[in-house]
Amino acid sequence: MQVCFQIQRQTAAENAPRVETFVLEASPNTTILECLNQIKWEQDGSLAFRKNCRNTICGSCAIRVNGRPALACKQTLQAEVKLAALAYPAIADGAAQSEAPPPPPTIEIQPLHNFPVIKDLVVEMNQFWQNLAQVDPYISTAARSIPKREFLQTPVERAALNQVGNCIMCGACYSECNAKSVTPEFVGPHALAKAYRMLADTRDDQTSERLAQYTQDLSGVWGCTRCFNCNSACPMDVAPLDQITQIKSQRLAQPSAPSEPRSVRHRRAMIDLVTQGGWIDERRFGLTVMGNRLRDLNGLLSLIPLGIRMLAKGKFPAAFEPSGDTQTVGALIQTIKLKTSLTKGSSLMTQVPQSPNLSSGDESQKLNLSQPEPKLGWTAYAEQINGRFAMIGLVILLLLEVLTHQTFLAWLGLQ
Ligand code: SF4
Ligand code: SF4
Ligand code: FES
Repeated sequence: MQVCFQIQRQTAAENAPRVETFVLEASPNTTILECLNQIKWEQDGSLAFRKNCRNTICGSCAIRVNGRPALACKQTLQAEVKLAALAYPAIADGAAQSEAPPPPPTIEIQPLHNFPVIKDLVVEMNQFWQNLAQVDPYISTAARSIPKREFLQTPVERAALNQVGNCIMCGACYSECNAKSVTPEFVGPHALAKAYRMLADTRDDQTSERLAQYTQDLSGVWGCTRCFNCNSACPMDVAPLDQITQIKSQRLAQPSAPSEPRSVRHRRAMIDLVTQGGWIDERRFGLTVMGNRLRDLNGLLSLIPLGIRMLAKGKFPAAFEPSGDTQTVGALIQTIKLKTSLTKGSSLMTQVPQSPNLSSGDESQKLNLSQPEPKLGWTAYAEQINGRFAMIGLVILLLLEVLTHQTFLAWLGLQ
């Protein structure tokens, strides 16, 4: 078959890439990598691309093919042309109905995104490897002091590593990661998939330290926007987003602590508020996340400018009313929790609060779906009475500070 390749070409010195077209004859089972070889050997020896194993093992040949990341040594012409026909059925239909001979299929080739280009399809991967190093991707040193002869794992323990162990560090997920595009400190899906592999490995003895590290800030799991691109892009079915979700779940399964990072409080508060009321009450949300249940004075004070701007713009309503039918949302979450606990073989058999969507004979009514208890009753009460009063109080404090030229901390004798 005849194929038309449109290849993006560039050197590090060139600001704008250019596209060059190459037409070649190849059998449908030829891989994209073999086609690139053919172009380089027969048409333009200056074309630059990476390759090594030619067998989907080394990850060197990842490029973008027709707008998606792919391993050039895995994707065949035939498969690519079929995918393009699925993506653009109108063009394929038009070509089939026309009497003129169809034009050769076109395959667009680009370097991976989110990497600086060195030349043509070769990208610079320093940041990629540095991000991987940030998750400390090795079994901990102490655990590597082998006590007897070797590490022993059960087949089940080893099987837990199979999926993430398939990663070949090709960079396809990193190329498509929206979070990486906008948050430079985010370590990326490849690193977090490896991070989960470290957490799941029974030989490692740093699990709690790793969990704290991976969930500390936006460089770790909370930086992910859950766009699913990494799962779609991965040619090895590592499903990085699934591994990120596992890390989050492990962190949220730990009991909450006053000192936990704001990002963890953010997730807990969101789940708790929606479960309790079916909506996110922004007043309580702000007090919990920014104010750490009234423990973080700086966090609380940081809400004041926002509060003032909202008041000034008329965005601070006198009364907050949840949308209708919010109880149903809470009931849905409770039902999912129930199903999850049933799947895990939970045997909690106590009373359950009534919810509008659960029938009276529902099995879930027998189980304990009680809402999470706050650690401290008084802080929960403070939030319950009305976050709005706290906000107004803070605004009054700020005004008094301005009028008296004295800081709040000075009144308290702390300054
Ligand atoms: S799901 Fe998260 S890690 Fe995966 S590509 Fe999207 S933002 Fe990146
Ligand atoms: S997770 Fe998949 S896409 Fe990402 S580097 Fe590993 S093999 Fe490549
Ligand atoms: S050349 Fe090694 S994965 Fe393609």
